[in-house]
Amino acid sequence: MKKFQQQVVLITGAASGIGRATALSFAREGGRVVVSDRAEEGGHETVRLIEEAGGEATFLACDVADPAQLQQLVEGTLATYGKLDIAINNAGVGGTFAKTANITPEDYHQTVNINLGGVFFGMQEQLRQMLEQGSGCIVNVASVAGLRGLPNSAVYTATKHAVVGLTKAAAVEYARKNIRINAVCPVFTRSPLFDSLFSIDPSYEEKLKRNIPLGRYGQPEDVAQAILWLCAPDNTFVTGMALPVDGGMMAM
Ligand SMILES: NC(=O)c1ccc[n+]([C@@H]2O[C@H](COP(=O)([O-])OP(=O)(O)OC[C@H]3O[C@@H](n4cnc5c(N)ncnc54)[C@H](O)[C@@H]3O)[C@@H](O)[C@H]2O)c1
Repeated sequence: MKKFQQQVVLITGAASGIGRATALSFAREGGRVVVSDRAEEGGHETVRLIEEAGGEATFLACDVADPAQLQQLVEGTLATYGKLDIAINNAGVGGTFAKTANITPEDYHQTVNINLGGVFFGMQEQLRQMLEQGSGCIVNVASVAGLRGLPNSAVYTATKHAVVGLTKAAAVEYARKNIRINAVCPVFTRSPLFDSLFSIDPSYEEKLKRNIPLGRYGQPEDVAQAILWLCAPDNTFVTGMALPVDGGMMAM
């Protein structure tokens, strides 16, 4: 029996990187996956990859910066598969790479609306449905920047700390409702989001790696495995955790 057989899994930001790897991993384990993203082409490609591997998935477009679309996303999930067992709030942006004094109000609002609003308003919709069902599991994708300061990324750092805070508060609130809520905190992980840093300064490639004890960057699959572990049906006592997936960085 596959681990997530017949479980309905909703993943935001699943057109690329960590979200796509997570969608493929859940589908391999029998999950019925709602692949969501504002990027439609990449979203359909994730569905194609899942189906090619013999899995089941549907694409639903959603811009997580818009709470109304997050409501429609849960409604669409129910219309497609009839329930929502697992939600992965993964969609996110890096924001402008700049010192704090140089960040514009536009960049501040865009980063906050996607990285924080997308998780907060997404969780509200998901929780309403999970409360009705009497069970559920949520994983929010934060960052090591949710646990420590990342220079030149103050707003990103603030939103990821906020995601860790939201995760802990909600986990305590809904623990007695059979709903577990955790976060993962990846270190630099090879994806379009992270690789864009190298176009700013190629020397980052070697410099940043020095801070990771395991001596390599994360792969999207490393983060996917941590997310699957947090959601596993036999993992019943872990909630409110912000799990570093960081090659040991937070141990230094
Ligand atoms: N890659 C890293 O080094 C790293 C490290 C720590 C945390 N993270 C977090 O992991 C998550 C996934 O990032 P990734 O590295 O896979 O990047 P990515 O750019 O490959 O994927 C992010 C996805 O989110 C989607 N997205 C962005 N804004 C959206 C919006 N408003 N509505 C819907 N979808 C939207 C993008 O279209 C994209 O498909 C993000 O929350 C990111 O902050 C990444």
